[in-house]
Amino acid sequence: MTKIAVAKGDGIGPEIMDAVLSIFNAAKVPLEYEFVEMGKWVFDKGYSNGMTPEAQHTIESLGILFKGPMETPKGKGVKSVNVTARKTWNTYANKRTFQTLHGVDTVFSKAGIPIDVTIVRENIEDTYGGIEHMLTRDVALSRRFITRPGSHQVIKYAFEMARKKGARRISCGHKANIMKITDGLFLEVFYEVAKEYPELKADDVIVDDLCMKLVTRPDLFDVVVLTNLQGDIVSDLCAGLVGGLGFAPSANVGDHISIFEAVHGTAPDIAGKNIANPTALLLSGIGMLQHLGLMENASLIENALLYTLESGIHTGDFGDKSTPALNTTEFAGAIIGNFGKKPLQNAKPELHNIPSSCTVVNLDANAMMESQETIKERIVGVDMFIESNVQPEVLAKKCQRHAGVKFKLVNISNRGTQVWPTGSRFTNLVNQYNARFESIDGETLNQQDIIGLYVSLSGDFKICSLELLNAWGDKKAYSLAQGQ
Ligand code: NAI
Repeated sequence: MTKIAVAKGDGIGPEIMDAVLSIFNAAKVPLEYEFVEMGKWVFDKGYSNGMTPEAQHTIESLGILFKGPMETPKGKGVKSVNVTARKTWNTYANKRTFQTLHGVDTVFSKAGIPIDVTIVRENIEDTYGGIEHMLTRDVALSRRFITRPGSHQVIKYAFEMARKKGARRISCGHKANIMKITDGLFLEVFYEVAKEYPELKADDVIVDDLCMKLVTRPDLFDVVVLTNLQGDIVSDLCAGLVGGLGFAPSANVGDHISIFEAVHGTAPDIAGKNIANPTALLLSGIGMLQHLGLMENASLIENALLYTLESGIHTGDFGDKSTPALNTTEFAGAIIGNFGKKPLQNAKPELHNIPSSCTVVNLDANAMMESQETIKERIVGVDMFIESNVQPEVLAKKCQRHAGVKFKLVNISNRGTQVWPTGSRFTNLVNQYNARFESIDGETLNQQDIIGLYVSLSGDFKICSLELLNAWGDKKAYSLAQGQ
């Protein structure tokens, strides 16, 4: 029997977790539970990461954590245990499934438009590294990392999941028309991976267009994979399409450890009253059973849940107000009573359990550090971010004096828009410029050349930051300024 770690959480957490586990027990789910200490009361005991060392050890040795919502104490300078867990254990893919639940009224369910969309969001990189600096008193910078191995991990997971799900289409949401290098890399990896899955229709959609299409024709989408921030926004949009966050399950999947939880919080306003809705946590639990290959148990429970919702049974937070609401325990009991029944719409096929494959990770050798790029890398220039409030022509003259024999000043931009050698006097300027220096005739430079330029420029300016301009062969590994 597979053993998993369970953290009941805070607020309504214990009530909804007990309800879900009672459903699992009635369905004879072949799992054993080891309860671990995580959440507010663990912070209060003095553990600054919100979990006891025993909890961490148990989760790391079992590999699966099923968790209720947890509260982060405010004003104590501690970080959310939910985020810590996702980052510490490298759960690089956030999977959220959104489906029409008959009985949960939305404009789409009323219009008879079925929704069954799975959003896979990259969970570690992007602006969520939180690497931010004030460069001048008026200019803030956030660094956005998109890496090839990080993109590959999450995209590969999305394709594997789509294949298992029997999906017809997988789409990549992105903004590569603007962020040509970062989102461009994500998109490039998407199409590389797509070649291994010829049976799936793979395409890409620009994220703003994706949002519009999801709202007008959600039934056209199946699996969508996105970078972190865009995925965060799009997944909440999809939650709205199917009735709100209360019906949104979530899986944070990694190679070694995966976390299954509901998206909603601890609902302190209704905690302890046994009236909370356990549906989102149950849907997350069903996702966990599927992840573990327990397809038979998953479809039995999911069909019973869908049948129960379809028959109009509800807790107090949704459904027909003219029929009495059930409390949490009664709602779980109603689902158990409906085992073996199938909903009229969206019934899940009865699948057989499949042995789950547990990846063994070699933590001594970090495979993500090995680059597959074989073409030699060359430094061909540098972007110097300079604090200055003089006009571009004045700045250019000064910069040119520092260029020496190895560099030429190619252009100057302000907030990404070129302002020298050509530009418009209508462009608003802030007190930080990017002066781009490239090597003369594309010669290869070294780091000492860059430092030499830095030292020279620093006699005249405060240099806030610099970025090397790399090239692989003839391919420039940096973007052009708007208007360049
Ligand atoms: P919340 O999701 O807890 O509550 C928002 C509203 O939705 C409340 O009116 C609540 O009663 C209702 N609600 C939420 N879940 C429900 C359920 N299952 N059944 C019926 N009604 C439900 O969001 P809020 O108030 O912003 O956060 C409360 C606490 O939860 C905070 O401490 C926050 O840090 C934590 N939180 C934890 C999360 C996690 O563990 N993954 C995620 C989001 C918030």
